[in-house]
Amino acid sequence: MKIKNDLLLRAHNGESLERYPVWIMRQAGRILPEYRIVRSKLSGFKELVETPEFAAEVTIQPVDLLDVDAAIIFSDILVVPEAMGLPYQMIEQKGPWFENTIRSNEELSYLDTIIDVEDRLSYVFEAIKLTKIALDSRVPLIGFAGAPWTVFCYMVEGKGSKTFSESRKLLYTNPVFAHELLSRITDVTIRYMKAQVSAGADALQLFDSWAGILGTEQYREFGLNYIEKIVAAFPNFPFTVFSKGALASLPEIAALNCSTLGLDWNMSIEETRKLVGETKTLQGNLDPCVLYGSDESIKKETIKMLKSFKSQRHIVNLGHGVYPDIDPEKVKVFIQTVKNYEN
Ligand code: CP3
Repeated sequence: MKIKNDLLLRAHNGESLERYPVWIMRQAGRILPEYRIVRSKLSGFKELVETPEFAAEVTIQPVDLLDVDAAIIFSDILVVPEAMGLPYQMIEQKGPWFENTIRSNEELSYLDTIIDVEDRLSYVFEAIKLTKIALDSRVPLIGFAGAPWTVFCYMVEGKGSKTFSESRKLLYTNPVFAHELLSRITDVTIRYMKAQVSAGADALQLFDSWAGILGTEQYREFGLNYIEKIVAAFPNFPFTVFSKGALASLPEIAALNCSTLGLDWNMSIEETRKLVGETKTLQGNLDPCVLYGSDESIKKETIKMLKSFKSQRHIVNLGHGVYPDIDPEKVKVFIQTVKNYEN
């Protein structure tokens, strides 16, 4: 069925727009008191992710409450390692934690070799189907996955890290192992994202949250090589690659065969536009900390960003996920400023 507000899809395709579409990374989550109510009824984050009815409910909340132009399925990038045989826990106030880590060829044996993605991640596909029904074609639904390098980082470290030095160490001490694990993650990710599209996802995004900790040569070899394989599996589909922090790699990222590049707030809209011309849509990139300011300063900074757009091919977003202690009213000021802007 035709999506009523399809601004996001038209922006991906470079079609003409009445105004720029806007959504925010991590919009479904802790910033909304309504999310916390749903979550408090359950044992925790994982139960929410794994219960399609609830996952669909919190996916739609930001569409109803914040008036964004897209929904993003409520899930996590860590469902992929779990489907590969490495279960995670989400520890309150701390973040993800894996009981086992994969740091050697021997430890690769913790992972399953035959992985039925449709079955293991059926809760995500079910949540997508329920969300599509409940959305009733109001706005597009975005599916997502972590990029192989970022997922690798969590599988190697077993938790978050400031330096991810265990992961980077392996690129020097055992690059053959690193490539083997990255290849396996890539294979599952392609099948996972394809199944999201079959279930109803209208657009896709890859989150490479830790792209910025690698130098350009290493990012090419251990990051972009695999991202290239993933985007090649989705020709002519609305697809965003968000390589957070990879400023120096932008010329190479610009050459990827995807419709859209996600930019963080250190990446210049003007400079990136020069690199991509009109061949790609740019998504981003307001500093999430702008939302701690007054309404007036949020409007001012948002308009400053909008004025730097010299093309229609833009999707407005923050430069990274919204921080959990941001007041939803401030998010609304940002969204309404974009919606009221006349260029
Ligand atoms: O964007 C959305 O609204 C959809 C949901 C979404 C979540 N995680 C839900 C979540 C998305 C797109 C993600 C992606 C994700 N998960 C990334 C990439 C984006 C980024 O922020 O860089 C990463 C690195 C993860 C891994 C992860 N999940 C971490 C490190 C943490 C703990 C820290 C944190 O941000 O809370 C999570 C937990 C998580 N994922 C929560 C939510 C709503 C918080 C859990 C809760 O307390 O409810």
